[in-house]
Amino acid sequence: MDLILVGLPGAGKSSLGRKLATRLSLPYLDLDRVIIAETGVPDDNAEKIFAREGEDGFRARERAAIAALTAANAPATSGAATDAARGEAAALGIDRIVSLGGGALIDPRNRWALAGKAHLLWIDAPNSAIAARLREAKVVRPIFRGEDPLRHLPRLRAERERFYATGLRLTSARNPASLADEALRLITAQPTPERRLIDAALPTGRWILGEGIAASALLRELRARRAARVVIVTEPNAARALGDTAEAAIRDAGIEIVRVDLPSGEAAKRLEVIGAAASTLARAGVERGDLIVAIGGGALTDAAGMLAALYLRGIDWIAMPTTLAGQLDASLGGKTGVDLPEGKNLIGAFHQPRAVIADLRALRSLPAREIVAALGEAAKIALLGDERLFALLESAAERLTAADQSVHDDGTLAEIVERAGWWKCEVVRGDEREASGRISLNLGHTLAHALEQATDYSGILHGEAVGYGLRAALHIGVELGVTPRPRAERATALLDRLGLGVAPRSERAADLLTIAQRDKKVAAGKIRWVLPTGDGYTVRDDLPASLVESAVTAALAGRAAQRTTTQR
Ligand SMILES: NC(=O)c1ccc[n+]([C@@H]2O[C@H](COP(=O)([O-])OP(=O)(O)OC[C@H]3O[C@@H](n4cnc5c(N)ncnc54)[C@H](O)[C@@H]3O)[C@@H](O)[C@H]2O)c1
Repeated sequence: MDLILVGLPGAGKSSLGRKLATRLSLPYLDLDRVIIAETGVPDDNAEKIFAREGEDGFRARERAAIAALTAANAPATSGAATDAARGEAAALGIDRIVSLGGGALIDPRNRWALAGKAHLLWIDAPNSAIAARLREAKVVRPIFRGEDPLRHLPRLRAERERFYATGLRLTSARNPASLADEALRLITAQPTPERRLIDAALPTGRWILGEGIAASALLRELRARRAARVVIVTEPNAARALGDTAEAAIRDAGIEIVRVDLPSGEAAKRLEVIGAAASTLARAGVERGDLIVAIGGGALTDAAGMLAALYLRGIDWIAMPTTLAGQLDASLGGKTGVDLPEGKNLIGAFHQPRAVIADLRALRSLPAREIVAALGEAAKIALLGDERLFALLESAAERLTAADQSVHDDGTLAEIVERAGWWKCEVVRGDEREASGRISLNLGHTLAHALEQATDYSGILHGEAVGYGLRAALHIGVELGVTPRPRAERATALLDRLGLGVAPRSERAADLLTIAQRDKKVAAGKIRWVLPTGDGYTVRDDLPASLVESAVTAALAGRAAQRTTTQR
């Protein structure tokens, strides 16, 4: 297995890499040099490749080099190795030392290719130390474009830390000799690398995404908090997929468990259910220092999060989403709540989980309909401006709707969760309480919530309802001239291919608009419609009633009607 050094440019990956290779008598590979050698251009360097092929060109080469790295059989330990060095490397299962360029982990597919298949070691150092090293370096890094690195490092760190943090963290000490010892100690302590793809320390809590990571990530969080007792709140389907395994791991670690089982699906989101669960906690003597671990889809985490917000006026909680909708949307952002007969999510609280641990493995047992429905939320984020996500959904639409296992195996679903989830994290970071930008996330939701309520939360899945809502918003946007027609056509074609908002509905537009009038998005009696623009969104509360009604009518008519309106 490779030992791969990652981190910011100038963090000291190459020097530590060479030192480790010498110490263990292993081959050393600097991936940037491999990329440069493969261009076949004499005297080439990274800067010249950037200038000639742009950053995209360089990253494409980097992706190919990483794919080759993981595909190739790791070379045998060098014949010149001493017995002691050979023994140390063999004991750690390491065949080769590799250092990656600072930007190599930005690409989700590179992380997918490496995660769990190599030891990732994040070489970190204070910005000032990195900048000092870069100023003395012979090679100019293209990313700094001749400017003082210290000006760029804080931004680079903010953009990339969540990727580097998927590896074991090694902070550069003053004594470089001890660094190699510390690196080997870290790997000895965790001989099997985890498949972590994101580890983001956000002001609102930690977000960990990976595959097969549920038990280990949860235990780490619980140990860090010295938890002696946890309340597991789950529901039957999620328990089968993940909850029972997580519970066993906690129990094996000697942590006491109080288990609360809620009903599956939207039935959990009722005040009576929260009341009964709170009584269970009170009878078990759950205290403020205890922690709730919510394991389930969006309905479960909404309800359990609200239980955490209300019990003893608020206790800490961790969300472990088990559905695609939960992983890319519902578990992130701290909105908790339950439904009332008068409307969806009408009672709730903002209560951020301390951590969200999303294990992609749970998605493998999810019914195909749930996967497709959740893509409604992903399509919403694409429309809000994640162009790569837009293209990814387009390229994988048929495989996604056909429940093709390859979307789990090749990192497609992982990338969808990562992109949509990160978009939401960024929006929430800017506006946690929905005072401004967070309203954008309601794109497609005015009609969606009304539809869900009209069907008593049982006839249509949330994301399916969002599909109709997006169609209505696109229709209005085109009529008002805020959504460019080609953009609307492209989005409608994607919804068609995903099978969202395709089947005609029997509800009447006027009835749904009456319901929508009671929605949380209403201000001063006016519905605030989020509408897609060419590359983002706008909010309007001044729409003519006739336009809204005709747009909702067209959306409810499904695919055929929408085609004619956006292509007119
Ligand atoms: N808080 C937020 O910001 C936010 C955002 C979006 C949606 N939501 C809410 O989320 C809810 C929808 O979430 P959802 O789509 O996850 O629905 P859900 O929680 O009802 O789960 C869908 C179904 O999948 C089952 N299930 C869960 N995990 C499974 C697994 N791994 N394998 C097999 N089956 C599994 C559940 O039992 C349920 O039957 C709605 O109530 C919506 O309002 C909240």
